[in-house]
Amino acid sequence: MRRVLVTGGAGFIGSAVVRRLVRDGWQVLNVDKLTYAGNLASLNEIDNSPNYRFLKADIGDASAMREALDTFRPELVMHLAAESHVDRSIDGPGDFIQTNVVGTFNLLQEALRYWRALDAGAQKGFRFHHISTDEVFGSLGADGLFREDTSYDPRSPYSASKAASDHLVRAWFHTYGLPVVMSNCSNNYGPYHFPEKLIPLTILNALEGKPLPVYGRGENVRDWLYVDDHAAALELIATTGRLGESYNVGGNNERRNIDVVKTICAIMDRVVPDARIGAREALIAFVADRPGHDARYAIDASKLKDELGWVPSETFESGIEKTVRWYLDNAAWWEPLKARYDRARLGTA
Ligand code: NAD
Ligand code: DAU
Repeated sequence: MRRVLVTGGAGFIGSAVVRRLVRDGWQVLNVDKLTYAGNLASLNEIDNSPNYRFLKADIGDASAMREALDTFRPELVMHLAAESHVDRSIDGPGDFIQTNVVGTFNLLQEALRYWRALDAGAQKGFRFHHISTDEVFGSLGADGLFREDTSYDPRSPYSASKAASDHLVRAWFHTYGLPVVMSNCSNNYGPYHFPEKLIPLTILNALEGKPLPVYGRGENVRDWLYVDDHAAALELIATTGRLGESYNVGGNNERRNIDVVKTICAIMDRVVPDARIGAREALIAFVADRPGHDARYAIDASKLKDELGWVPSETFESGIEKTVRWYLDNAAWWEPLKARYDRARLGTA
């Protein structure tokens, strides 16, 4: 049976990847530190599976990574563990450097040591897939798309730390021959998304009749992809992508933030009308802009589509409707997180 070690499998995208891989018959070891963003409840539907195991560990802990690799003996490592929230990176960049840069370095070193000790056949079959973001490419003007050969131009502490990790992964391929493949994806949304991010925050505040914070004038553009479409792309890239290559992942769904928020308001007004709240667009509150706020992200995913045959299954319209309904049906998952998040924002945690 195929064995994959997934880092960050208790997070938003990592949990979608783990759920998918277990369903597809992989034996999965999920290695996660369980920071504020890690949540084992996102894995309830598979955690009784004999093919799933969990290890609470920090990717920066060399001996823990060494033991995990030597005892589990994966043929594939999918590295998703990261600090992921741009606003948090602005308030406190230290954890981003520690996990995204130093943690990735540590994991690469341990993967290299493990790979070198494998016999020739196993060495040939081994792969290290590094999962990254389109934010490493910086900010686009009104035209153009991020391609795999677009120059790196990260502008936030988060994107700079992810860019550094991408460079390290490429260096371990070229210098040491570690068999790596990489991917850079646009904004994900969908079930199990932590309620600090724009889409879940908007859904839950709209449900509760709270203000919907929109940075600046809401003109910034993001390119949205349903998380299960990303998970499908990741399995494909990890198993069939060409070594040493990177693949951009995106669903061709560019939207201004203000339009995303208005779309969610319209769905909520239709699906859960509330006379006390009224039309939810009135809850929109324009607030101070994010420092260094990237204007526009947009992905050219043609390499992934042409070479590996990936096709996303959701449009933004179908995916956002599914996402709103998921949050309405899964209060037990988000209520404790949202309450903690609201208290922290108000400084009462
Ligand atoms: P997330 O914040 O939801 O989850 C991150 C997970 O990593 C959490 O479970 C956390 O506990 C774990 N983690 C953090 N530090 C760790 C450490 N030192 N050791 C072990 N585990 C640790 O993030 P996400 O949105 O699921 O993103 C996953 C990956 O995908 C990240 O590498 C991110 O850069 C990348 N990415 C995210 C998006 C997006 O839109 N969310 C888009 C493109 C790429
Ligand atoms: O592009 C991929 C990236 O997408 C990932 O690498 C990151 O890990 C992920 O967090 C996401 O980054 P963003 O900064 O784009 O996501 P966020 O949901 O924080 O913000 C989306 C947009 O909405 C952004 O332009 C900022 C804006 N925003 C965000 C919040 C939280 C608001 O207007 N109001 C808000 O309250």
